[in-house]
Amino acid sequence: MRLQIVVICLFLSSFALSAIEVEQVEAWSTTHPSAQIEEFLEWVKIKDPSQLSWFTLMRKTESSQEATPTDPRAIVFGPTAKFIFTFNGAPTSKGYQEIEMIFFREIPQARWEMRKLSFSPQDKKNSFSGPNPSQCLSCHQNPVRPIWSQYDIWKGAYGENDDAIPDFDNDKYVGGGLTEEHLIVRKKEWIDFREFLKKKDSHSRYSKLEFPEGSPVSPYSPSGRNFNYRLRPNLKLTESLMSLHAKTLLSKLKEHPEFNKEKRLLLASLLRCEDQIDAKNSAEKNVFTELEVRFLKYDKGTVPWNHKGYTGDISHRHYLLYLLGLEHSDFSLERRPTKWSYFGGELYSEENLMMDLYASIKKEDPKLPAFHYYDQYSREVTLPEGATEDLRTLPELCLELLQSRIGQGGTEASGPIPLKSSFATCVGCHHKNGEAPYLPFEDPERLKDDKTIIELIKNRIGTADPNLRMPPLRTLSEKERQGIYDWLFSLLNSSVSKGTTSNKSATMP
Ligand code: HEC
Ligand code: HEC
Repeated sequence: MRLQIVVICLFLSSFALSAIEVEQVEAWSTTHPSAQIEEFLEWVKIKDPSQLSWFTLMRKTESSQEATPTDPRAIVFGPTAKFIFTFNGAPTSKGYQEIEMIFFREIPQARWEMRKLSFSPQDKKNSFSGPNPSQCLSCHQNPVRPIWSQYDIWKGAYGENDDAIPDFDNDKYVGGGLTEEHLIVRKKEWIDFREFLKKKDSHSRYSKLEFPEGSPVSPYSPSGRNFNYRLRPNLKLTESLMSLHAKTLLSKLKEHPEFNKEKRLLLASLLRCEDQIDAKNSAEKNVFTELEVRFLKYDKGTVPWNHKGYTGDISHRHYLLYLLGLEHSDFSLERRPTKWSYFGGELYSEENLMMDLYASIKKEDPKLPAFHYYDQYSREVTLPEGATEDLRTLPELCLELLQSRIGQGGTEASGPIPLKSSFATCVGCHHKNGEAPYLPFEDPERLKDDKTIIELIKNRIGTADPNLRMPPLRTLSEKERQGIYDWLFSLLNSSVSKGTTSNKSATMP
């Protein structure tokens, strides 16, 4: 019974996940011409209660809407950040009668859209702006995107440092590693926040916000390094924005005329396949060498030197992204995105971009195998999520992606073309320049004529002996093994005659 309740709750909460959309706000503003900001907040609460439970508060801001420590600028972003709006709380602050908004829109393609909803208590007439008012562009760039910093400093926000507001009076461990200067600043943050907490319940606007439970300084954490995202709104906003922003980057990539030709290589480089391939495997290596040459020819000096492979980090993914029209600064959501830093945005959005790209290729080509890998936090990730089909390892997927590239004639050192997708995992080691004995997978006629090889293959994939079993690092699924047997069988019974072009034979069964 209890389980059932949990299931129902999950089911209900999944409804709330569709965020409020532009058209709904627009309709509300026309039907409520004389409403005030408080009524807007009440409408949001009815429409999507989860929206008001995710927010952060700016005690200082560089934006066009003013903030003070006791009347901060609230950034309300809901569980997904697909709809974000802001308001402040002091009648004397600039922008007191305005709500600034950003929507994430998916149709016809992923992009951001900004709007302003202005209220006027005198004329009792609100107005909803068109998309992307020019006054927003000076800071939010064009095309528009949100402005938000990376883990773990969010300047001007409460919880500025790691989402934490420690208790400076009672926690004897607080302040240990801080300089005197920092100590004063952070202690002030804590005092200001307590002031704010005292008055928020009686405030006509802040009282509408839903403060999560579990912290005396909710929505923030009483100490740093908290794993509970519920009390980490600044980090949660960073991660949500990055994952949505990656979708806009993929939309932009798709507009490039070369995208379709290069998308598998792009996936391979986002997966850092260069680290996975065997150094002696010249065909695969050439794919990346060729990419490097192309990049150096076109680089107009906008890619930072430390992304050009002069250090240990040979960033083929940055070469290819650049060649497909994305500059490094496109990833950043910083207020001044030209400045490069390690946390400049790539950290989160590259991984998201890789996942979105994988999903997009998989949608067009369901034969793209499922795989698993370890992410930057060493967490095991399976793509597609929850896949039950047989999983490839990262090196295996890399080989398949690069093989398809070589198969397109993308490099001079054209390698073998796998005859059947199941053989793709074999070809990586067994091609002409490979470490393993050459097996003529790309040449069905030769394979067909050599019954010994066929027997060997059957034995090697059928045996339970780990010293003999192929492939050496992985167990084939029953389906894959059967696929190879079937293919060999049809090969033996086919009438491939001498003289057919290898291209034609390659598309056999
Ligand atoms: C003077 C620069 C500036 C202008 C102009 C500006 N913003 Fe912003 N905006 C910011 C900054 C900086 C932030 C980061 C958070 C903060 O400081 O409040 C931000 C944050 C936001 C956010 C919260 C989500 C996010 O991006 O972090 C929204 C929504 C927003 N702005 C909407 C607008 C709209 C709509 C306009 C135009 C009507 C606008 N802004 C004009 C600087 C500006
Ligand atoms: C990671 C590299 C690797 C992969 C992947 C791989 N092999 Fe091998 N294979 C080897 C090596 C190395 C040898 C030689 C050592 C040995 O005999 O075990 C070998 C030997 C063989 C032999 C014996 C060849 C001979 O002349 O004795 C056969 C047959 C074979 N592999 C088939 C396959 C098939 C079929 C697949 C795919 C399902 C496959 N291999 C995948 C590395 C690989």
